[in-house]
Amino acid sequence: MIRHDVLVIGSGLAGLRAAIAAATAGADVGVASKVYPVRSHSVAAQGGINAAIAQEDNWENHAFDTIKGSDYLADQGAVETMCREAPGTVYEMEHWGTIFSRTAQGRIAQRSFGGQDFPRACYAADKTGRALFQTLYEQSLKLGLTVYSEFTALSLIRDEGGNGAIQGAVFLDLASGRVEAIAAGAVVLATGGPGRMYQRTTNPLLSTGDGLGLAYRAGAPLKDMEFVQFHPTSLFGSNVLITEGARGEGGFLLNARGERFMDRYAPKLRDVAPRDIVSRSIETEILAGRGFPGGYVELDIRHLGEGLIRHRLSEIYEFSRVFAGIDPVREKIPVQPAQHYMMGGVSTDARGATEVPGFYAAGEGACVSVHGANRLGANSLLE
Ligand code: FUM
Repeated sequence: MIRHDVLVIGSGLAGLRAAIAAATAGADVGVASKVYPVRSHSVAAQGGINAAIAQEDNWENHAFDTIKGSDYLADQGAVETMCREAPGTVYEMEHWGTIFSRTAQGRIAQRSFGGQDFPRACYAADKTGRALFQTLYEQSLKLGLTVYSEFTALSLIRDEGGNGAIQGAVFLDLASGRVEAIAAGAVVLATGGPGRMYQRTTNPLLSTGDGLGLAYRAGAPLKDMEFVQFHPTSLFGSNVLITEGARGEGGFLLNARGERFMDRYAPKLRDVAPRDIVSRSIETEILAGRGFPGGYVELDIRHLGEGLIRHRLSEIYEFSRVFAGIDPVREKIPVQPAQHYMMGGVSTDARGATEVPGFYAAGEGACVSVHGANRLGANSLLE
């Protein structure tokens, strides 16, 4: 049987970061993923990663915005840890080689995101997930981690006779069709969310939530599963994500009467109110008959100019053209809310430990909870 000190299931940002930490601490690590790592959903993350790195900002403001945005249901101790460590995390990624967008002074550029009093989201154009992922993937290659690609986890191996500890997992190797067991001293689950349960989701086909099922069947409690996040702006028709960064850069929403309706729902923050408020507002407009036929509103970024759109929102430029057949430099983008993120997941403490010995969880599939009832945009890559 294959054996490792630590087995990580899932190869997105959370999985790779956990694997790198364990390997750096001297453990022999195996990473198993049902896709080749570069196809993990983290790669699709667009708008940014929050960190209070500006002189006028501080981690306390970041923590306050996060807790307020969570409807005061986040675990405040865990939020403090996340926000305190955020600047160090972003600088670590920068030093490992992440190609963040830059200000004219050469500093890491930051943009506004929903529900935050300060432009705190560090970004790499609108490909932040991909930029961070490439960096971690390089680190994983440098450390020589063993990766089992296209290994679908079927069940966790549990010591039924002893203390119930998790001691590995059983996989279906998709290439050979063989069933393989991997034994490990500890297992970290980092398999992301179950967005594909929903008809409209920004998640890819692989986000089926099977990791949550594995954990549940092995006796690990799930927490906060009633807290489901809808992103305000997915492309009408395909539900491909249109980053909140587009509104952070100054884009705004219009109903079918040409009204900037967010003025009615969030007069102060308007189009960059927390995403639960913006999503509800869009649905309210549509249900009140002020949307477009089929159920959408429009996002206008034309005034930002071709230079900014093609440089800082290059994916939005491409996605609008390819998936909706419109040119966002000249035309408004049809958008509707779609499921985007699960605040709930496998219940863990702030160190990622579940209630089951030897079993840990990280990323979207875990729940500490740093997001409470509603995650702020750009806190997921950070988490
Ligand atoms: O809109 C976005 O770019 C999404 C970011 C996030 O969910 O953190």
